Amino acid sequence: MPRKPLISGNWKMNLNHFEAIQLIQKLGYALDGDDLDACDVSVHPPFTDLRSVQTVLDADRIPIALGAQHCHFETSGAFTGEVSPAMLAKLDVTYVIAGHSERRQIFGETDEMVNAKVRAILTNGMTPIMACGETLDEREAGEAEARVQSQVVAGLAQISADQVANLVIAYEPIWAIGTGVTASSTDAEAMCAHVRRVVGDNWGGDAAQSVRIQYGGSVKGGNAAELMSQPDVDGALVGGASLDADEFARIVQHRLL
Ligand code: PGA
Repeated sequence: MPRKPLISGNWKMNLNHFEAIQLIQKLGYALDGDDLDACDVSVHPPFTDLRSVQTVLDADRIPIALGAQHCHFETSGAFTGEVSPAMLAKLDVTYVIAGHSERRQIFGETDEMVNAKVRAILTNGMTPIMACGETLDEREAGEAEARVQSQVVAGLAQISADQVANLVIAYEPIWAIGTGVTASSTDAEAMCAHVRRVVGDNWGGDAAQSVRIQYGGSVKGGNAAELMSQPDVDGALVGGASLDADEFARIVQHRLL
């Protein structure tokens, strides 16, 4: 079975709930049924916007999946400021990003925390998008492959092959995030193929064939078709360009470009 691309918009810490409603409504108009048949699409608003966006998606029957950017790994308890995966599941959240490089670098998330989150997301019936990627220094030192391999193996530890087959891994080179510098399609393909090999070596060929691997890092309407035409690139995790409905729609519609 061919892997259906997943295009995910990570809104990061942008847009209050009024602005979020406007953006999701615009996106609903910009995409038609064929677009949403060809690709799975998710949007990942800040926590404060989730309920508002979910209400619009429901009321207007827009087949875009609701996603979150982060969660804690415990179900409840004394974790001031955190949001539990069970709370997200109750809001009909489908995908949760775990281990985005901003969470790793700014908030000190370790591979162990990422792994605990991935497992908690699965336990709560949602799909993790586990992010990995190397820094510029690591790339220049020839360590990109080893770095990404260790993040994938640690982040998905103790997860069954069947579960790995159904989750999403986002390869996001840190030097390409928010910088306007995109990895070349050759580099993106090489690293996504590497991630698939790592999955194959650790969870077997079926999991490697089914797992969806997104590329992320300065994806725009203008480079989406080229990136997405690579055999091991199964979609995109989009930051900046997902805040503009028309630009994000162009990425989703990459098959037409
Ligand atoms: P960007 O962000 O598209 O703005 O580079 C990607 C991401 O952080 O997921």
